[in-house]
Amino acid sequence: MKGITLIGFMGAGKTTVGKLLSEQTGMAHIDFDDKIVEEIGMTIQEYFDLNGEAAFREKETKVLKKYIDHNYVISTGGGIVMQQENRALLKAMAPVVYLETTPEVFIPRLKNDHTTVRPLVVSKSPEEIKQVFEPRITFYKETASMIVSTDQRTPEEIVEEILANVK
Ligand code: S3P
Repeated sequence: MKGITLIGFMGAGKTTVGKLLSEQTGMAHIDFDDKIVEEIGMTIQEYFDLNGEAAFREKETKVLKKYIDHNYVISTGGGIVMQQENRALLKAMAPVVYLETTPEVFIPRLKNDHTTVRPLVVSKSPEEIKQVFEPRITFYKETASMIVSTDQRTPEEIVEEILANVK
């Protein structure tokens, strides 16, 4: 089976679904945020504070290029689709699955996640988080080869739908 790349907003479940997909397919799971943290040698929050978002996006593109030809399950960071170059690279990595979710679901999830500090969400109001999300919707949709709705569904159900469609 070809590798599977997951895209979607923060809190969509890319890591959870990625790990489960990896278990069920036997393909290794790669989390791009982890790869970036290895490369920058600090947390994403620290890197944003020191160098800003644009520098972070450059690191993201670098990691993306490294995995262009892959046989992994890849969970990307939610902002990877912001760069046109990244969108083109991702399309070449199909199947690309957009884990679609709504603010009603991801905002409480992000607020309750005390393990990951996300610079674009931390100390933001729900309205501000929506403003980060909305311009991205078109990019997720145009980049994906498959769209899977995740609200009110378990990771197992999501994985089942993905596997039924990529085989
Ligand atoms: C970001 C999403 C994060 C991480 C960084 C920026 C974004 O990844 O890459 O904080 O711009 O949406 P997750 O989607 O895995 O939280």
